[in-house]
Amino acid sequence: MKQKFEQLLKKRDEAKLGGGADKIKAQHEKNKLTARERIELLVDEWSFQEIDMFVTHRSTDFGLEKQKYAGDGVVTGFAKISGKQVAIFSQDFTVFGGSLSEAHAEKICKIMDMALKLGIPIIGLNDSGGARIQEGVVSLGGYAEIFLRNTLASGVVPQISAVLGPCAGGAVYSPAITDFVFMVKNTSHMFVTGPNVVKTVTHEEVSFEDLGGAETHATKSGVAHFVYDTEVEVLENIRKLVGFIPQNWKDLPIEKEFDFTKDLLEPKLDEIIPDNPNKPYDMKMIIDLLLDDGEFLEVHSNYAQNIIVGFGRVAGVSVGVVANQPEVLAGVLDINASVKGARFIRFCDAFNIPLLVLEDVPGFLPGTEQEWNGIIRQGSKLLFAFCEATVPKVTVITRKAYGGAYDVMNSKHVRGDFNYAWPSAEIAVMGPKGAVEIIFKKEIASANDLEKKLNEKLAEYVEKFTNPYIAAERGYIDEVIIPSESRMKIIQAFQLLKTKVDTNPKKKHCNIPL
Ligand code: HXC
Repeated sequence: MKQKFEQLLKKRDEAKLGGGADKIKAQHEKNKLTARERIELLVDEWSFQEIDMFVTHRSTDFGLEKQKYAGDGVVTGFAKISGKQVAIFSQDFTVFGGSLSEAHAEKICKIMDMALKLGIPIIGLNDSGGARIQEGVVSLGGYAEIFLRNTLASGVVPQISAVLGPCAGGAVYSPAITDFVFMVKNTSHMFVTGPNVVKTVTHEEVSFEDLGGAETHATKSGVAHFVYDTEVEVLENIRKLVGFIPQNWKDLPIEKEFDFTKDLLEPKLDEIIPDNPNKPYDMKMIIDLLLDDGEFLEVHSNYAQNIIVGFGRVAGVSVGVVANQPEVLAGVLDINASVKGARFIRFCDAFNIPLLVLEDVPGFLPGTEQEWNGIIRQGSKLLFAFCEATVPKVTVITRKAYGGAYDVMNSKHVRGDFNYAWPSAEIAVMGPKGAVEIIFKKEIASANDLEKKLNEKLAEYVEKFTNPYIAAERGYIDEVIIPSESRMKIIQAFQLLKTKVDTNPKKKHCNIPL
C-alpha cells in the first residue's frame, strides 16, 4: 500500500512541475509567476482544494500524444479569500503556452458550473497563447463553452479576471464578459489581433504594449478596471475587491462591525467647496472624508476620470461610490464617463451593493465628436442604470446639478431614496450665463448698455435659481445639510435603508440601450 501512496505523491509532484523546471525558469525570467505561485499568493493559507490535477489532453495530431502534462495547462479548484469561498482557475503558461485544449476548457467549465451551484465568485487568472492550435475547432468549441458560462453566470456570482500574460484573439472575450479585469504593466497583453496582423491590414506599426498593454487598456479602451506594476499587487488587490463584494446575487451587502459611539461630524468637509463656483476641487477629498477610514478601492482610476467609481464602507456597510470629479473636465458627463458609470452601477445593483452618489455636474459634454459617437445612446446607459437600480440609493449634491445630468445622477425622480444637498448646491436647467442669454435675449439685445443688462440678469438668475431651496421646497431634495453633517446623514440613511425592498416589473430581461 505504501508503494501506491508513494506513486500518488510522485504523480502529484510531477503535476506540480507543469511544463518542467526549464519552462518555470523561463516564466520567472519574464518576470511572471507560475500558475501555482499565483494561487498561493491569492488565497488563504492551506485553503486551496485542487481538482482535476491529472487531467490530460486527448489529442493525437502533430505528435501531441507524446507530449502530455498532468493538468493540461490549467490549475483549477476552490479556495478561501479572507474566509470567503471562491472558485479559481489559473492558466499554466509552462504547458503549451497555457493554450486552451478541449480538456483544459472542460476543467474551467467544471469549476464554473460548481461555482454557480454554490453561489461563489469565480476568479480566472489568464496567461495563455489562446486556442490550442493543434486541436483546431475543438479548442474553439472549448472557448465558446466558457463564454456561455461567463454569460450565464453574469449577475449570479461575481466574476473577476486577471490577465497576467498574453490573451489574444477571441480569448479576450471571456475576461471582457466578466465583471472586473486586472492587468499588470509590461507583461499583460490583450488584443483581438496582434501587431503583425494590424500591420498587414491597416499598415499601422504598433508595439504589443501600445496596442494592448495594461496602460492602454486602463486609459484608452477601458477594458482594464485595475492595473498594477506587479503581479503581487494584482493578487493583493483581488483579495481587497473580494472583501467588498457579496458572494452572489442573493447575498446581503458585506458588513463589518462599526462603533456607533464615535463622533460622526467631519468639519473638514466644510472647507472644500471654493467660493468661486467655477473653481475646481478634488471630489476624492470628499470621498475620503465620507468613507470609513478613508478606505476607497477605486475602479477604472485612469479611465474617464471625470467620473469616479469604486468601493468603500459607510459605517461598516460596503457601498459603491459614483461621483462626478470637478477637477477633470469640470466633472462633465461624456460618453466614456457615462459607460463607465453605468457598468459599475449595474454591477452594484446586481449584487445588492448600495449606491452613494456625489454630484457636481455641469451637464453633458457638447460637441460634434460626442454627438456623432452617440452621447445620446451612451449617456442613456447611465440614466438607464440609475433608473433600473433597486438597491439603496443616496445622493449628495455638493455643487452643480444642471440639466439632464441632474435627472440622471440618481435624482429623486429616478428612485433616489435620500437626496441631500449642500447649501452650495446649484440645481437648475442650465448654468446662469447660458440661461440668461436665452431667456433674456431680446431684453439684453435692446438695452443701451448690453453688459450692464447682462450682469443684472445674471444676478437675478443666480439669486433665484442657483441654490438648493427650490428643489427642497418641492421635496426633490429631502434635506439641505451642512457639509460636516454629511457622513452622519449618509450613515443614518444607509442604516435605515437596510430593509429596503423595491422591485422592477417582471420581464424576460431589460433592453438597455447598448
Ligand atoms: C499551441 C502554443 C500556442 C497555441 C503558444 N504555444 N501558443 N501551443 N497553441 N495557441 C506554445 C509554443 O509553441 C511554445 O511551445 C510555448 O507555447 C511557449 O510559446 P512561445 O511562443 O515560445 O512563448 P512567447 O515567446 O512568450 O510567445 C507567447 C505568444 C506566442 C505571444 C502567446 O506563443 C503566440 O503568438 N502564440 C500564438 C497565439 C495565437 O495566435 N493563438 C491563437 C489565437 S486565436 P514550446 O514547446 O516551443 O515551448 C484564438 C481563438 C480563440 O485563440 C477563439 C475564441 C473564439
